[in-house]
Amino acid sequence: MMNLAVRNLSKSYHQHPVLNLTQASFGKHSIEGLIGPNGAGKSTLMGLLTRRIPPTEGSIIFEVEDKHHDLIPLSSHQVAQIGLVKTNQRIQGFESLTIRDSLRLACTPPTQETLKSVFSKEQLSEAVEAEIDDYLSRFTFNEPDGYARSAGEKKLLDILRCLILKPKMLLMDEPTAGLPEDVTQQVMQEITRQTKANDMRIVIVEHDLELIWSFCEYVHFLVDGEMLFEGKPEDVKANRVVAEKYLGL
Ligand SMILES: Nc1ncnc2c1ncn2[C@@H]1O[C@H](COP(=O)(O)OP(=O)(O)OP(=O)(O)O)[C@@H](O)[C@H]1O
Ligand SMILES: [Mg+2]
Repeated sequence: MMNLAVRNLSKSYHQHPVLNLTQASFGKHSIEGLIGPNGAGKSTLMGLLTRRIPPTEGSIIFEVEDKHHDLIPLSSHQVAQIGLVKTNQRIQGFESLTIRDSLRLACTPPTQETLKSVFSKEQLSEAVEAEIDDYLSRFTFNEPDGYARSAGEKKLLDILRCLILKPKMLLMDEPTAGLPEDVTQQVMQEITRQTKANDMRIVIVEHDLELIWSFCEYVHFLVDGEMLFEGKPEDVKANRVVAEKYLGL
């Protein structure tokens, strides 16, 4: 059982509300979608859930493996340690580390998280190094021992950096925007495989609705900071409010 539940969660910037959820719950299905128009609050919600953005009010509870975690007192780092991790809509960083070292840094426990320890080989087990090799052999980078240069390579690296942490739940904010189609398919196959093999849960924000309809078992529809509808893809597709507010039908 896994459940990431929010209650009365709100976020305002300069007294202007951008998110206001009485309640919402993620993780009952392996792959869930979070859709809605630009500015709906999707990224804000993912930022709140992973404690990167402080909420104005509200509670966030993560129930996993019979443990009940109140996320409000935790830092985003602590949230990641209990298995809730997020990929980014906009990619920053990766300029000062090679692709391989970025993955090694992701696997380095926070207390050792200095550049020095990333470069000292003993810090990471052979198993972790083998896992990094495995990812780098299956996913194509121009130069795995060089830097991620293209937007697509940075995006892919950001996703692999999250997957290598073996999260219990991974929130993906527009993962495929900027990825070539074949890489998108490869990423989706990999996360689908990991949902089965590791019982990982995924919440995916995407404007590519074909991807949402084909991969998600359940879809949440957010508009102006409020969850207006949720259900199975066919029900969301057929919903009048979704059609009017987002699909432009
Ligand atoms: N740091 C901030 N300061 C002020 N307003 C913000 C800030 N971050 C987000 N907003 C506003 O909050 C609203 C929700 O933004 P958010 O990025 O969560 O939308 P989104 O659903 O992810 O949109 P998109 O599909 O375009 O990525 C927008 O009106 C945005 O301008
Ligand atoms: Mg966004």
